[in-house]
Amino acid sequence: MQLRGNWNYPTAIRFGAGRIAELPEAVKSAGIKRPLLVTDPRLAAMPMVAGALDSLRVAGIPCAVFTEVRPNPVASNVEAGVKALREGGHDGVIAFGGGSALDVGKVIAFMAGQTRPMWDFEDVGDWWTRAEPSGMAPIVAVPTTAGTGSEVGRAGVITDEATHVKKVIFHPLMMPKVTICDPELTVGMPPAITTGTGMDAFAHCLEAYCGASYHPLADGIAVEGIRLVKENLARAVEDGADVEARAHMMSAAAMGATAFQKALGAIHALSHPVGALYDTHHGMTNAVFMPYVLAFNRPAIEDKVARLSAYLGLKPSFDAFLEFTLDLRRRTGVPHTLDGLGIDDDKAETIAAMAPDDPTAGGNPVPLTRTAALRIFTDALEGRL
Ligand SMILES: NC(=O)c1ccc[n+]([C@@H]2O[C@H](COP(=O)([O-])OP(=O)(O)OC[C@H]3O[C@@H](n4cnc5c(N)ncnc54)[C@H](O)[C@@H]3O)[C@@H](O)[C@H]2O)c1
Ligand SMILES: [Fe+2]
Repeated sequence: MQLRGNWNYPTAIRFGAGRIAELPEAVKSAGIKRPLLVTDPRLAAMPMVAGALDSLRVAGIPCAVFTEVRPNPVASNVEAGVKALREGGHDGVIAFGGGSALDVGKVIAFMAGQTRPMWDFEDVGDWWTRAEPSGMAPIVAVPTTAGTGSEVGRAGVITDEATHVKKVIFHPLMMPKVTICDPELTVGMPPAITTGTGMDAFAHCLEAYCGASYHPLADGIAVEGIRLVKENLARAVEDGADVEARAHMMSAAAMGATAFQKALGAIHALSHPVGALYDTHHGMTNAVFMPYVLAFNRPAIEDKVARLSAYLGLKPSFDAFLEFTLDLRRRTGVPHTLDGLGIDDDKAETIAAMAPDDPTAGGNPVPLTRTAALRIFTDALEGRL
């Protein structure tokens, strides 16, 4: 089967190996004449960014590059980017990279049209309606990792350095106008990043599926996303140049972010404060918490997870799914406990207090109280399932 297509859900997606060559056309179709390409410094030094800039130059599209993006990006990255966008007279953003660069690029494009401060648009209630949509710059997204799905999402995750809180900035129009999913861009990802990002996609699908609300569309996308992770993540980790496995993981990432408009849950609610306080990789942090959260949620999700297991070709039981998760973690090099990420019990109380306030906590099928968060955190420290 040729792993290629033009999809229109949830936005215009040009999917397939080599399709980065269509970047100039994608930029034009998004109505952008003077793009600002937002990426991180490591990617900026890689041939794929030089190649993208070359293709734009050949097509006569003037483009500047902004690289002040750190992993777990912070507000000052966005502020500097908005300044660069305005001063350079740019009318759109090419968000090019992993979740960090995609999120910063998207939020720069969003903030270009706002007069209120960024934190006024945190994903709380209907705060997004405070935004002025007319000045927002259009976005073309090019993911180079397969995990966050930010390329098809309506939010950006930015850390508030003052309070060490990861905040979600949301607006429906932050959805990229065009996304190019070219799996060849991900072949250079080192195994640890392949694992971390792939486990993020897995966590998105899983938390969406386990959420208690009624959203069968999201459920359908999530279960197929999990199947793609099951069949392809270990393959992509073992052989980074396996473009077929890379392509399926890239789909799983987009599917995760499409499905999690239904819900996320305790994996993300714990992972966000840990990432903000310890600067750990987001997806890898999710991967560590995953089985402990599954075990905690078990009473609410047992039947549902058994059904998922059957779809995956496993024995139709919760235990079979838990065992599969543990096995996938082992095969892809995920530490079993938090000390593998350099985390001890020093900030346990702080994290347990922050997790229930994270915007993703509300989607967990079992209420995530402070006591519950402390229990899961301690389980993940001690390896208690
Ligand atoms: N917007 C959303 O919906 C959403 C969802 C989940 C996570 N996130 C956020 O996304 C961020 C994590 O993104 P990520 O996991 O993609 O990591 P990342 O963007 O921080 O990238 C991790 C590292 O991988 C490198 N890298 C990226 N692509 C590469 C490639 N093809 N080859 C070699 N190296 C490459 C980067 O330069 C960086 O050093 C976190 O801040 C997280 O909170 C956002
Ligand atoms: Fe995530």
